[in-house]
Amino acid sequence: MFRSSVIRTVLPLLIAAGVVVFFGLPYFDRLLQSWFAADLQLRSHLVMNSMEERLPALLARDDPQALGQVLNRIALDQRVLAILICRPDGELLFKTHDAPAALSCADAAAIPDGHSSVLHTPSGSIQSSVFDQHPQGVQPYRVEIVYDLSFIDRRQTTAREYVMAYGGVAILILALILVLGAWLLLRRWANILIRDIRSRRFLDNAQSAPLWRPILRQVRKVLHEMEERQRLELDYRENWTPQALQHVVRDQLRSPQIIVVSNREPYMHERDESGAINVQIPASGMVTALEPVMRACSGTWVAHGSGSADRDAVDRFDRVRVPPDNPSYALRRVWLSDAEQEGFYYGLSNEGIWPLCHLAYVRPAFRGEDWLVYQSVNRRFAEVVAREARSEDPVILIQDYHFALLPGQLRPRRPQSTIALFWHIPWPNAETFGLCPWKREMLSNLLMSDILGFHTLYHCQNFLSTVDRFVECQIDQERMTVALQGHICHVGAYPISIEWPPRWLASAPSVEVCRKSVRERYGLSERIVLALGVERWDFTKGVIERFNALELLLDQEPRLRGQITLLQIAAPSRSKLPAYQSLQQATLSEAERINARFARGDWRPIVLVGKHQRPEQVFELYRAADLCIVNSLHDGMNLVAKEFVAARDDEDGVLILSTFTGASRELLEALLVNPFDITETAAAIRRAIEMPLEQRRERMRLMRRTVAENNVYRWAGRMLVDAARIRQRQALAITEEEAQVGRLDRLG
Ligand code: F6P
Repeated sequence: MFRSSVIRTVLPLLIAAGVVVFFGLPYFDRLLQSWFAADLQLRSHLVMNSMEERLPALLARDDPQALGQVLNRIALDQRVLAILICRPDGELLFKTHDAPAALSCADAAAIPDGHSSVLHTPSGSIQSSVFDQHPQGVQPYRVEIVYDLSFIDRRQTTAREYVMAYGGVAILILALILVLGAWLLLRRWANILIRDIRSRRFLDNAQSAPLWRPILRQVRKVLHEMEERQRLELDYRENWTPQALQHVVRDQLRSPQIIVVSNREPYMHERDESGAINVQIPASGMVTALEPVMRACSGTWVAHGSGSADRDAVDRFDRVRVPPDNPSYALRRVWLSDAEQEGFYYGLSNEGIWPLCHLAYVRPAFRGEDWLVYQSVNRRFAEVVAREARSEDPVILIQDYHFALLPGQLRPRRPQSTIALFWHIPWPNAETFGLCPWKREMLSNLLMSDILGFHTLYHCQNFLSTVDRFVECQIDQERMTVALQGHICHVGAYPISIEWPPRWLASAPSVEVCRKSVRERYGLSERIVLALGVERWDFTKGVIERFNALELLLDQEPRLRGQITLLQIAAPSRSKLPAYQSLQQATLSEAERINARFARGDWRPIVLVGKHQRPEQVFELYRAADLCIVNSLHDGMNLVAKEFVAARDDEDGVLILSTFTGASRELLEALLVNPFDITETAAAIRRAIEMPLEQRRERMRLMRRTVAENNVYRWAGRMLVDAARIRQRQALAITEEEAQVGRLDRLG
C-alpha cells in the first residue's frame, strides 16, 4: 500500500513540478538578464566618469599612445571587452587593442546618449553603452564601452541547474513527507474503523477524536447502509416489513411504476345526512391486504369510484391522493353508470362468477347482456390503466374476478408491462367452471397475465385442470406454467395476509378495557362468554349455520344458557341482489327465532348488528371476544381469522375456523370445523369455552407467529420477486433474440 501511495503521489508531483519549471524558466532567464544588464549599465557610467576629465586633453594632444595607455588599462577589467572613441559621423578615432576586429562605430550608431543596448554578434552577446561628449576646444566625439555578456549566459545556466536540482530534491522530500503523513493518517482511521466494526460501535462516533469525525461519519454511514441492506436481505425469509418490500421494488424490480387495479376502492368519500363528507374504508379483504402494500410501494390504484361524494374529492384527472391522513399513493377513480354497475358488478361478477366459484349452493346466473357490459367495463379499465402508465413497462397488479378479461385487453396496449392478476376467491374444479358460457374467453384472457395468483395450491391445480380442459395450450405441470400464443403465464399459490403489526392495534385500548366497554355497549354481563362473528353479509360466510350451531349447543348443554352470547357483525353487502336480500331476511328471522327460544331476562344468545364497522371498532371487538367463529362455507383466504389472531397481543382467545377457508391451511392451531356439519361446529364452540388458559395461549402464540411471518408484505414481496425474475428472463430473451437477428444479418 505504501509503495503504491508513493507512486501515486510522488509521480504526479514531479510531473507537475516539471511542467512549472518548463514554463517558468524562460521568465527566470529574462529576469536574470535584465538584472545583469542594469548592473553593467551602472558600471559603464562609473567607467565613463573615471575617464571623462582626462579624455579631452588626450584627444586634443592627438597622442594615440597616451590615449591607448589610459584606455587599454581601463579595458583590462574582466567584463570590458572594448572601448571605442568615435566621431559623431561614425569615424573611428580609437579602439582598445583587445577589441574584436569586427567591432565598429557603426554598431552603436543608433544608441542614444547615456543608454545601453544588447547586440548579438556571431561570437556572442555584447552590451554597448554610449556617451556623447562635447568638451570645449575639442571636436565632439562619442565613447562606446562594450561589455562581454557571455558570462551572463554561463551564470544563467549555472543558476538554472541549481534551481532545478534544489527544486527537484525539495519536491521529492515534500512529497515523501506528505505520503508518509497521509499513510499514517489513513492507517489510524482504518484501525479506528476496524475496532468500531469489531465491537459494533460504528454507529456511534463519540469515541473518535474531532479531527477524524468528518471522514469517519461518512464511512460509518456507508457501513450502516450496508448492514441495513444485508439485514433486509436476510429478512426476505424471516421478517417481511414495508422496508423489505420497498427494497424488492427498488433493487429487484428497479423501481417501476406500480399500478393496482380493483373494482372496490380503498377509500370511499361518503356524504352523510348533514352534508358533510366522511372517508370510509370498505369492508373488503382485498382492501385490507392491498392498502398497506400500496402505502409501502406508492404508485397508482385504479378503482371504481362508488362513494356518494367521490366525485367531489377528485382533481380534474379523477385522482385523489390517499390515505387522507398521510398521502402516499394516487387513487384514480373510474366512473360507472348505474347500468354498468348492474351488468358488470351486480350481474356477471356477483350473480355469475361469485356463486360459480364458491361452493355455497347458490345457483350462478349468466345473462348475455351482463357479459356484454362486463366486457366493455373491462375494456374501459384497460384504457384507463394504459393512460395511467407513465412508462412502457409498469408492473400492473390486477385484483379479482371482476377483471378476468383485463390481462388480455391490456397486453396489446402495454406489451412490455408485467401483469399479475390475483384471484381472491376460490377457483372451482373444471366441471364446475365449465358451467360458465364464456369460460374460454375468460381463460384465454386470464392467461395473458405473467403471473396468475391464487391463495392455495389446490386452487392452482383446479385452474390448470380447467385450462387443460377448455383451452388449446401447453401446460407445464411441474413449473406450473401455461404457454398460449407464445405468451407464458406462471400460475402460483400466494396466500394473502394482513399487515403485521396491524396499524389499528397501535391505538387500541387494552384487552381489559375492550372487554368491559364492548360488554357495556351491548348490555352483556361481565361473566358472559363472548363469541364473535364479523363479516360482510354474504351467503358464503355461513352466518345461519353459525346460529344453528349455537342453537344446537344450547339444546345439548342447557347449563350454557345465559352463559354465552354470539355477537354477529354483518356489514350489508350487494344488498340489491335477491340472494343477498333473502339471506338478510333469513338471518334476521333465524336470530329472532333462536333468541325467542332461549332468551331469559336481559340475556339473548344472539346480538345481530347489521351495520358496517370501522376497522378500529372491529379491532376493539376482536380484543373483547373470548372466541371468534369463522365458519365460511367457502372462502378464498378469509382475513378476519388472521386479523383476530393479530389483534390478540394478550395471547388469549380461541379461533374456530372452517376447513373451507384458505386460512385453515396456515392456522392449524385453530379449532377446525366443517361448516356444513352443525354438530361439529357446536362441539367446537363447547371446546372453545372449556379450553384451559394454557392451551389457549399456546395455540394463539403459534398462530400469531404464523401470521407475523406470513404477513401481507411477504405475499406482495413474493409476487414482486417472481415478477422481477420474469422481467429479467424476458430482457435476456430479447437480448438473445437481437443477437440472433444480428448474427443472421451478418450472415445474410
Ligand atoms: O373475497 C373477494 C372480495 O373481492 C374481497 O376482496 C372482498 O371481501 C369482497 O370480495 C368484495 O366485496 P365487494 O363486492 O363489497 O367489493
